[in-house]
Amino acid sequence: MKKERVLITGCGGMLGSAVYRVFSENYKNVLATDIDLNEPWLRKMDVREISDCEKVVLDYKPEIILHLAALTDLEYCEKNIDNCWRTNALGTENIAILAKRTDATMVYISTAGIFGGEKDEFTDFDRPDPLSYYAKGKYHGEQFVERYLTKYYVFRAGWMMGGGLKKDKKFINKIYRQIKAGKNELFVVDDKLGTPTYTNNFAESIFRVLQTGYYGLYNQVCGGSCSRLDVAREFVRLLGLEDNVKVTKVSSDYFKDEYFVVRPYSEKLVNLKLESRNINFMREWKECLAEYSSIYKEDYHGKI
Ligand SMILES: NC(=O)c1ccc[n+]([C@@H]2O[C@H](COP(=O)([O-])OP(=O)(O)OC[C@H]3O[C@@H](n4cnc5c(N)ncnc54)[C@H](OP(=O)(O)O)[C@@H]3O)[C@@H](O)[C@H]2O)c1
Repeated sequence: MKKERVLITGCGGMLGSAVYRVFSENYKNVLATDIDLNEPWLRKMDVREISDCEKVVLDYKPEIILHLAALTDLEYCEKNIDNCWRTNALGTENIAILAKRTDATMVYISTAGIFGGEKDEFTDFDRPDPLSYYAKGKYHGEQFVERYLTKYYVFRAGWMMGGGLKKDKKFINKIYRQIKAGKNELFVVDDKLGTPTYTNNFAESIFRVLQTGYYGLYNQVCGGSCSRLDVAREFVRLLGLEDNVKVTKVSSDYFKDEYFVVRPYSEKLVNLKLESRNINFMREWKECLAEYSSIYKEDYHGKI
């Protein structure tokens, strides 16, 4: 077991459970925090409040800070701009300031959503052009971490999948909830490209890259690319429901009221730097989805 103390922010979310598992398996001392205390192992820490964070950091003295905390609902962020800046941008600044002061290594999770989508795919070297307030806040976080620290890692994730029935706030669980509610036709967009990112694989990769000491910014997504439609069809197939549930292709216009925030045409990332350094530990998205789907399959077929 490693001796460094690890502090995690925003650890109650869909990525947090995987990060907590991986780091607790490898480090003797892990302190997991969030504003939403949905697990007994979480302690309260609000990244918007620098003095609260300062107390925790100075008291715990972490050598590594994994900063996951963020508001991740794009529509919420667009309607609550002030809170979005305070959490996603300023919250990251707060943590970076404290990491600098205590000489801790900071790991920040960013997003493929920082790109504007004028290309089909983006390497670590493409210039971000964030469209939404969520993405602008996250990009501000990246810039601040890069300017302020030398001992840092920024990992950009794509379409996150993980956390399971209780914690997954994103696409897979949204699709599953419709299926479980008895819908036999799903409407899914085919005009948005991206790369799924499986939380378990992502957390393990963070741990492994951290061991290399090759600091810096990395795109870190699963292999392969797809549209939302491809993901939904594959998920339905993995559940063994392709004869019962029809997946109908629509354009983003279909959801323009519900998902009113402009999303880039493509959020597909290429892990160029990880590949070049021979430290790309991310697996193919279909293989990861097959693994992740097993809990949904069990839940669904348990229901019959
Ligand atoms: N989900 C994705 O598709 C995706 C894609 C790329 C990158 N990311 C990034 O990955 C990281 C982890 O996100 P996730 O997918 O695990 O999303 P998540 O499930 O929403 O987890 C984020 C956690 O942060 C908490 N939080 C919000 N405001 C906070 C504050 N002021 N102080 C402390 N904690 C706070 C959230 O609590 P509440 O639930 O109460 O808000 C939640 O528990 C984030 O930095 C996100 O931007 C996510």
